Amino acid sequence: MVSDKAPLIRLYGVGKVYRSREVEYIAIKEVSLDIMQGEFVTILGPSGSGKTTLLDLIGTLDTPTKGKIYIESIDISKFDDKKLSDLRNEKIGFIFQSYNLIPYLSVIENVMLPLTVSSKNDESSMDYAMELLKEVGLAGKVEKKPSELSGGEQQRVAIVRALINKPQILLADEPTGNLDTKTSDEVLNMLVKVSKERGTTIVMVTHDPELTVHADRCIYMRDGIIEREKKVRK
Ligand SMILES: Nc1ncnc2c1ncn2[C@@H]1O[C@H](COP(=O)(O)OP(=O)(O)OP(=O)(O)O)[C@@H](O)[C@H]1O
Ligand SMILES: [Mg+2]
Repeated sequence: MVSDKAPLIRLYGVGKVYRSREVEYIAIKEVSLDIMQGEFVTILGPSGSGKTTLLDLIGTLDTPTKGKIYIESIDISKFDDKKLSDLRNEKIGFIFQSYNLIPYLSVIENVMLPLTVSSKNDESSMDYAMELLKEVGLAGKVEKKPSELSGGEQQRVAIVRALINKPQILLADEPTGNLDTKTSDEVLNMLVKVSKERGTTIVMVTHDPELTVHADRCIYMRDGIIEREKKVRK
């Protein structure tokens, strides 16, 4: 991509080897990748090709065994745990393959949780939470516990929770994997809206090639490398 702007996220020769006592497993062989502010990127590829590992590395939940990762041109490899968690709280929202909701908290409490950590919890953020929950059709269920919700509803709560901090970067691992077509479309429209209106950078792993039509760019992974890339024509 020809651009005079520095990428928001830069992976340079990044690799990840998992080591247990006797075996080494190369999850990411070597990946170099630039993602610009406001881009909507999808990652496709067979099971085990390294998609979740790549997302975890971008999200600083895991550290590479080689190469460097830059966020806003800053090399984060020298960050300690505190600096990394501050970076995550401030800039990154996660939607995981499993929903990771807290079972004893209600919908609204789950959604507001990231704000408790970053102490931005005020009335306007409550209004924003309610607005997002309404958008995903959950306005009537804010006091329910996750166990009282369907899988699709829980995933929608997880998505709202990821957006509540207005993150600059949203990382989503199969966010529509457990949803029916209609709900899946709604969730995707919401992500597209966030990307366009707020300029949020989105990296989304999906198994569904149909979902890539909403993205700016599509990355195909195989055996721990980027096999090819495709710009989506709009
Ligand atoms: N903590 C770990 N320890 C050892 N190996 C791991 C670990 N996490 C992942 N792997 C291995 O790394 C490879 C890539 O895993 P990853 O979860 O990134 O795949 P994926 O592309 O997300 O697959 P899926 O589509 O099934 O979610 C897999 O073969 C997996 O077994
Ligand atoms: Mg995965």
